Amino acid sequence: MTDQLISGFPVRLLDVTDLPACLRLAEDREWSPEERKWRLLFEVGDVYGVDDPDGGLAAAVVCTRFGQEISAIGMMLVAKRRERRGLGGALLRYALDRAGTATAWLTATAYGRPMYERLGFRAIGECATHVGEATGLTRGTSRPATPSDLSAILALDAEVFGAPRGELLTRLQAFSERFRVVDGPDGGLSGFAGAWRNLGETVLGPAIAQDADTALGLLSDLASEVEGPVRIDIDTSRSELLAWAKEHGLHHSFSTTIMEYGAPLPGDRSRLFTPVMVALG
Ligand SMILES: CC(C)(COP(=O)(O)OP(=O)(O)OC[C@H]1O[C@@H](n2cnc3c(N)ncnc32)[C@H](O)[C@@H]1OP(=O)(O)O)[C@@H](O)C(=O)NCCC(=O)NCCS
Repeated sequence: MTDQLISGFPVRLLDVTDLPACLRLAEDREWSPEERKWRLLFEVGDVYGVDDPDGGLAAAVVCTRFGQEISAIGMMLVAKRRERRGLGGALLRYALDRAGTATAWLTATAYGRPMYERLGFRAIGECATHVGEATGLTRGTSRPATPSDLSAILALDAEVFGAPRGELLTRLQAFSERFRVVDGPDGGLSGFAGAWRNLGETVLGPAIAQDADTALGLLSDLASEVEGPVRIDIDTSRSELLAWAKEHGLHHSFSTTIMEYGAPLPGDRSRLFTPVMVALG
């Protein structure tokens, strides 16, 4: 349903029937047509789009709300023929107003960063995406997750992420190629991590753990089990993750700026090692 105009164009909440138009918009900006990823985003997030009077989408953004606390912003795209006329900024403002969460989080390309800064986002770090075939891995002590681990996964996640991600994590059990956990001393978990397929690579994420050794063990176990190249999005303040990537043959592919908006991010981010994906946190 079209409910408003922004910059003279109609904006609406998209649904999965708009997926082909989203993929065409992504390709217009030389982004890969990541259909599987978009399908998950349609399931867990709000995808807003601006219809182009000449056909297709002029712009899109995904805003995934985790309770009243955090919105994760991703897939911010404006068609080349429609950029630099205020559409991107207005669409993001529209999505943030509707989400109404205390905080928002995203990782910005160099293209997007000035626009986000103008809207009030603050840079809080750098994300270095590494890719490659992982080699020389030493196995950790994790085991495959089972359905009975879900409640402990959700409990640990809520503590660390600081906002409810139950729906996403439940869906990730099937969406992920692999999902592993490390048992804690008291019947709980000391960590969990997943890996999911995206086009020609497997993304390692999320990874949440009590300490770096546990996280690296989980990531090594996942990387040893998947075929082909892996991708990992590393907050560069995590020197142990950067060293792990280098030691196991992954190379730096590109960097983005981690940004927050509104209140500081809740939770205990010292135990959050990798995001599910950069569009979700
Ligand atoms: C980043 C992106 C979404 C920006 O979309 P956009 O619609 O061009 O954004 P805006 O028009 O709101 O702002 C872009 C610039 O245009 C300027 N602008 C806005 N209205 C304008 C107007 N009427 N005339 C001239 N310039 C204008 C803004 O001041 C801004 O300048 P700045 O970047 O120097 O601050 C778009 O370039 C894009 O899709 N890039 C490729 C994908 C990408 O990198 N996405 C970001 C992922 S994090």
